[in-house]
Amino acid sequence: MIGRLNHVAIAVPDLAAACALYRDTLGASVSEPLDQVEHGVTVVFIDLPNTKIELLGKLGEQSPIAKFLERNPEGGIHHLCYEVEDIIASRDRLLAKGARVLGSSEPKIGAHGKPVIFLHPKDFNGVLIELEQL
Ligand code: CO
Repeated sequence: MIGRLNHVAIAVPDLAAACALYRDTLGASVSEPLDQVEHGVTVVFIDLPNTKIELLGKLGEQSPIAKFLERNPEGGIHHLCYEVEDIIASRDRLLAKGARVLGSSEPKIGAHGKPVIFLHPKDFNGVLIELEQL
């Protein structure tokens, strides 16, 4: 069911510093920051030859990454995103297998303008998983 690794998302306490680290120290090409108000994050995209990295900065006090950054003040890997061909079929299969989908379990439009769902980390070895329809 799952396909390619679409991205690894890293929550960071200081987005400008993280951009500088990836651009200047690691030599990656780093996008301009993009505020995603409805998701409570500012996102920077880093294209690698085989996948993407997303740096997530907190946007607003209600940000979904605020608690994560409290627990991980230096930042850390926040989620992995796998591609799926059919988000509804994937969700129904996961629910039938007893996995928990976060929120209403209806797909939302994610950072790339495509439908996404998130799966409970306690059901997947402590890793928050995002599924994105191609
Ligand atoms: Co993501």
